[in-house]
Amino acid sequence: MRDTPRYVCYCFEVDKATIVSAIKQHDLRDEDEIGSYTRAGCGCGTCKPDLRAILAELGVLPVPRASNLKPFPWLDPEELEPFID
Ligand code: FES
Repeated sequence: MRDTPRYVCYCFEVDKATIVSAIKQHDLRDEDEIGSYTRAGCGCGTCKPDLRAILAELGVLPVPRASNLKPFPWLDPEELEPFID
């Protein structure tokens, strides 16, 4: 059995319940607004895809299509070209 991650945002120790509560209470529409209320996503940014996933889970954002997902969203695809056969 897998443990549920303790936090969504480890930089500021923000858990999912806090994020969901802030989204519902303040009608938040994107990850920047979540950051304004909870600080989640305002550090390294690693958790931003998880914040968008929570927004999608709540029906605030459309669920991303698999074809739109990037394996390394923080990298420019041109940076990877030299390493791809
Ligand atoms: S883990 Fe959320 S900003 Fe770093």
